[in-house]
Amino acid sequence: MNWDDTTDETAPERLVGSVADGEDQAVEAALRPKDLGEFIGQEKVREQLDLVLRAARARGATADHVLLSGAPGLGKTTLSMIIAAEMGAPIRITSGPAIQHAGDLAAILSSLQEGEVLFLDEIHRMSRPAEEMLYMAMEDFRVDVIVGKGPGATAIPLELPPFTLVGATTRAGLLPPPLRDRFGFTGHMEFYEPAELERVIHRSANLLDVEIDTAGAAEIAGRSRGTPRIANRLLRRVRDYAQVKADGIIDREIAAAALKVYEVDGRGLDRLDRAVLHALLKLFGGGPVGLSTLAVAVGEERETVEEVAEPFLVREGLLARTPRGRVATPAAWTHLGLTPARAPGQGNGQPDLFGT
Ligand SMILES: Nc1ncnc2c1ncn2[C@@H]1O[C@H](COP(=O)(O)OP(=O)(O)OP(=O)(O)O)[C@@H](O)[C@H]1O
Ligand SMILES: [Mg+2]
Repeated sequence: MNWDDTTDETAPERLVGSVADGEDQAVEAALRPKDLGEFIGQEKVREQLDLVLRAARARGATADHVLLSGAPGLGKTTLSMIIAAEMGAPIRITSGPAIQHAGDLAAILSSLQEGEVLFLDEIHRMSRPAEEMLYMAMEDFRVDVIVGKGPGATAIPLELPPFTLVGATTRAGLLPPPLRDRFGFTGHMEFYEPAELERVIHRSANLLDVEIDTAGAAEIAGRSRGTPRIANRLLRRVRDYAQVKADGIIDREIAAAALKVYEVDGRGLDRLDRAVLHALLKLFGGGPVGLSTLAVAVGEERETVEEVAEPFLVREGLLARTPRGRVATPAAWTHLGLTPARAPGQGNGQPDLFGT
C-alpha cells in the first residue's frame, strides 16, 4: 500500500480522526439531536442537565453556567444547542481563540439579550485578560469597560442582562480554577458504548435515508472509537460503498467490506495507527523507543503521532507511554497477529514492564 496516497478526501486519517472539517460540518448540523430526549447516551450528564434546566424553567430564571468537557466529537456543541433549545433561548456561538482581546468579549457580552445562551467553544484557549473579564461577567453580570490608556484610564462598569454561559473544552485540566469554579454545573462527557453508537448510527441512517440492518450498524459501531462523530462519518462512507458496489442496503458484510477499503480495522485502528504499532513491534522489538524515532520510522511529524495516533492506542491498551519511551503491550502483538520477538523491556537490565 502506497504510504503517500493521502490526498484522497476519504484518506483514513480523516476518516477516523475526531476533528470535524469540510463535509462533516454540513452533515453534522443536519444530524444533531435537537432536544435532550433525542440525545443518545451520556445518561449521567443528561439527567443532571435535565434537572438544572427544568428547575431554572420552573423558577422562570436563566439557567446556571454550564461547563462541558470531553474529547472531540462526543457532543459538546450539540448539547450547548440543546440547552438553548430547552430554555427557549437564542444562542450566540463563539470560541476561545476568536476572543483575543478583552474588548472582543466585552462587545459580545454587552450585546447579549436577557436569558441568551453564550456558547464559548475551546474556552481553555481564551486570552488571560478576556478570561478575567469573564470571571466578573459570570458572577456579577457586570463588566468593566476600560476607557483610555495609562494612568488616565478609567473603568466604566457596565451591567449585563442575566445570561447562561456554556463553555466547552477538550482539556478541562487547563482551565484555571477560578474559571472552573464559576460554573454552576460541569458535565463530563464519556466515550460512548458500542450499543449507544449503534443507536446513533440507526438514527443517522434514518435521517440520511439509508437502509441498514442491526448487524451492519453493530459492525460500524465497533470501529467508531466510542465517538459519534466518527460513527456518522464511517456510516457515510459505508453508504457510498453500498450504493456503488451493492444495492444500497448496509448489512454486516457490506460494512466490513467497505471499512476494509477505507483501511479501518475491526477495532477502529486506521493506517497510521497500525503503521505506528507495526514500527514499534517490528523495528524496535516492542520498545521502549522515543517518540521522535517512532515518528521518523513512520514518516510522520512527532505531533501527528503524539496527538492523532497515540491517544487512541493508549486508550485501547495497545501502547504505553513510559519515561523511557513508547512501549507496546502484549495486546498490540496479538492485534497485529505477531509473536513477540523478545519480551518488551528484556535485554536492557530493566524490569519487565508487563510481566511477560
Ligand atoms: N449523543 C448523541 N446522539 C446522537 N448524535 C450525537 C450525539 N453526540 C454527538 N452526536 C453527533 O456527533 C457529531 C459531533 O458532535 P459535536 O459537534 O457536538 O461534538 P463536540 O463535542 O462539539 O466536538 P468538538 O470538540 O470537536 O467540537 C454531531 O453531528 C452529532 O450529530
Ligand atoms: Mg464542538
